[in-house]
Amino acid sequence: MTQIASLGALGLFGSTAPRYTSYPTAPVFSLATGAEAQTRWLAALPPGDPVSVYVHIPFCERLCWFCACRTQGTQTLAPVLHYLDAVEQELALVKATLPAGVRMGRLHWGGGTPTILPPPLIHRLAQAIMAAIPPADDFEFSVEIDPMMVDEAKIMALAAEGMSRASIGIQDFSPAAQAAIGREQPFEATRDCVETLRRAGVTSLNADLVYGLPHQTLETISDTIDQVMTLAPDRIALFGYAHVPHMSKRQKLIDETALPSDTERYALFTRAAQMFCDAGLDPVGIDHFARPGDSLAEAARGGHMRRNFQGYTVDTCQTLIGIGASSISRFPQGYVQNAPATAAYIQRVTAGTLAGMKGHAFAGEDLLRARAIEMLMCDFRLDRAALADRFGAQAAVLDTIHDHVAQVYGAVVEVTPEAVRILPEGRPLTRLIARCYDGYGSHGAIFSKSA
Ligand SMILES: C[S@@+](CC[C@H](N)C(=O)[O-])C[C@H]1O[C@@H](n2cnc3c(N)ncnc32)[C@H](O)[C@@H]1O
Ligand code: SF4
Repeated sequence: MTQIASLGALGLFGSTAPRYTSYPTAPVFSLATGAEAQTRWLAALPPGDPVSVYVHIPFCERLCWFCACRTQGTQTLAPVLHYLDAVEQELALVKATLPAGVRMGRLHWGGGTPTILPPPLIHRLAQAIMAAIPPADDFEFSVEIDPMMVDEAKIMALAAEGMSRASIGIQDFSPAAQAAIGREQPFEATRDCVETLRRAGVTSLNADLVYGLPHQTLETISDTIDQVMTLAPDRIALFGYAHVPHMSKRQKLIDETALPSDTERYALFTRAAQMFCDAGLDPVGIDHFARPGDSLAEAARGGHMRRNFQGYTVDTCQTLIGIGASSISRFPQGYVQNAPATAAYIQRVTAGTLAGMKGHAFAGEDLLRARAIEMLMCDFRLDRAALADRFGAQAAVLDTIHDHVAQVYGAVVEVTPEAVRILPEGRPLTRLIARCYDGYGSHGAIFSKSA
């Protein structure tokens, strides 16, 4: 059997699985854990440990048809200003709840499009965040940037506030694919943006690409990658296009007949991965590539890469405070997600309460299973001894799952008393194998294709 046929026989095509940027996954969250838990958990944070902060800006000037992110289109700054007022109120509530002395180790602005903010609003937001949670000495600030929605003044404003890492959206440079996803983005504009970011002192640059887009072919993705590599990115995220029109209504504008088949998707990923490796990047986790000297590549090699809501990371902070509509906070005790709709979020914080609406308090085997899944997603290796050291006798509850994995995926997984190791040829199945360790049975239509 060819490799693609064996992977198909093991369920690669036609299955859906979470991306496991959290465990339990967000669909498991319930209304039983909301603002009250958020208040208690913020107040209980140990002042000595730095926290990470994520701020969500759910606005875009253009709404790309393929995009599944939580965002809304606007041609004016009026709703953005209204939203920033609420974010400042939320920050004031967080500040009043946190114990004195908590410091911010990392700050990430995501969206949507944070670079919709003009320079005065960039400064206003950055200063409000730092006033609420002062930065630690080795503070790092990263921002998601749409190259078509940014200019030199915005980049310089972000750099003046400490931005040293940036992530730019590219997706694909082929005009046919860009037209089919409603996102025009010339290579030259992207290159100008990258040059300005480098001039502004950005030392780590990530580029987002997507495979599985309409009209994408092996030839067009190869051309895109050739162009991307001239930009000398430090990291690449190569996401599989998640076509979920039942959740993201704008995807109804995508012509489904132009989408590549499952086997074509697989070939697109394989070609792209090969080209990145040939260009000297290290493969990292299931869908990233990084320059060997980049901290993410080093963390992957050293076995200390982590996975959180932003994907693969070197961030080891125990706590992530999510600010803004739909943002998810992670505490040592569990997760809390802010009200997802912008209007509901604004209503909550202007009424003087934290915006947490649903969440999950860790219980039972949650932390054990979360770590087992994270190990597979990051290292393709679940270290049984490390789990036993950390979780004691409880780790044995996974033994029946290890046996099940050996039985179903034995052709591509090696199970020994020390470890469960996904062999290189089995890596496309990682999300499906990780799902075996999910105690909530997270599968079904709400998640994207596993390949
Ligand atoms: C929140 S967006 C921010 C990007 C920024 N606004 C831009 O347009 O450049 C982050 C990334 O999510 C990825 N993404 C969005 N929708 C996706 C989908 N349906 N399937 C796979 N990746 C998707 C894209 O690669 C995108 O760059
Ligand atoms: S890809 Fe970026 S600009 Fe396009 S809709 Fe999504 S968040 Fe907005």
